[in-house]
Amino acid sequence: MLREKVGKCYKVALGGTVMIKRELGHTGMKFSAIGLGTWKMEADEHAAIAAIHLGIEAGANHIDTAEMYGGGEVERIVGKAVKGQRSQIHVTSKVLPSNATYAGTITACERSLKNLGMDHLDLYLLHWREEIPLGETIKAFEKLKLAGKIRAYGVSNFDVADLEEAVRLAGPGKIACNQVLYNLKERAIEADVLPWCHDRGISVVAYSPLGTGELANDPVLKEIAFNHNVTAAQVALSFLARHKRVFAIPKSSDSKRVIENVTAPVLELTPHDVARIDKAFPVGKKAGLPMA
Ligand SMILES: NC(=O)c1ccc[n+]([C@@H]2O[C@H](COP(=O)([O-])OP(=O)(O)OC[C@H]3O[C@@H](n4cnc5c(N)ncnc54)[C@H](OP(=O)(O)O)[C@@H]3O)[C@@H](O)[C@H]2O)c1
Repeated sequence: MLREKVGKCYKVALGGTVMIKRELGHTGMKFSAIGLGTWKMEADEHAAIAAIHLGIEAGANHIDTAEMYGGGEVERIVGKAVKGQRSQIHVTSKVLPSNATYAGTITACERSLKNLGMDHLDLYLLHWREEIPLGETIKAFEKLKLAGKIRAYGVSNFDVADLEEAVRLAGPGKIACNQVLYNLKERAIEADVLPWCHDRGISVVAYSPLGTGELANDPVLKEIAFNHNVTAAQVALSFLARHKRVFAIPKSSDSKRVIENVTAPVLELTPHDVARIDKAFPVGKKAGLPMA
């Protein structure tokens, strides 16, 4: 029933022909263009687990979480949700900047693994940057990688100057991704962060890709969506997923919406759609990196 209601996108995705997966950074790991965000999922564990299961069934193979979310509660929920299919799923977690000393990062990672009930993370990120020297966090990431506790690492909420420092400290090819605020209302990263990352093979992971849900009700996106028999949220996500190095991690605890989101890249926007979107959501001037 649910599948029928969602329409052609889900059917196409289930046919297995167009689930877009791409390499994350230079990690050799292929992530689906759309992953599953989990912020605030602790509000309803039952719905969260059901949504994660449906998202995976529809083709998502990565889940984004963080030690911050629900104070570890969301990691515990993610652990329960992927039990039995861990090897097919890439799991990302993030260390809080206040824990990001060398020793603090290692302890935080071990705590996250315990919460998740896993022996390794596929991707570990510094959630955002504060005073602790970046070199300490990167040294800890390297140690964790060597010990097999993480497969890859990256950063989040980094502007170009921070990225330059991270790459200088880690070496080329080591920073897998930069997870940043990116949606049609927040296109500032297109000015510099996105091309900078693209040129160095660093993936961009778009958080709040639906503008925390607002874009699902946008009238321009709704009109475009109507012409394709999809939803405005799918238009917003497919616009981001057109970039070959961009991944998006919408969060939904709703079973219909999670399928909508995961299958969004199936939609191919026409040049006319793209021009309309560019007009309605101009890139604008960048005044610092936007953050949630
Ligand atoms: N690195 C960072 O600093 C950072 C910051 C913020 C977020 N994140 C990550 O990025 C993820 C996504 O960001 P976000 O949760 O802030 O915002 P988002 O994914 O843009 O939007 C989530 C909101 O939109 C609703 N929604 C989802 N799909 C929808 C659809 N198809 N139609 C209509 N409404 C829909 C959700 O409600 P329902 O659940 O009821 O569907 C929820 O209220 C987070 O969960 C987290 O994993 C990272």
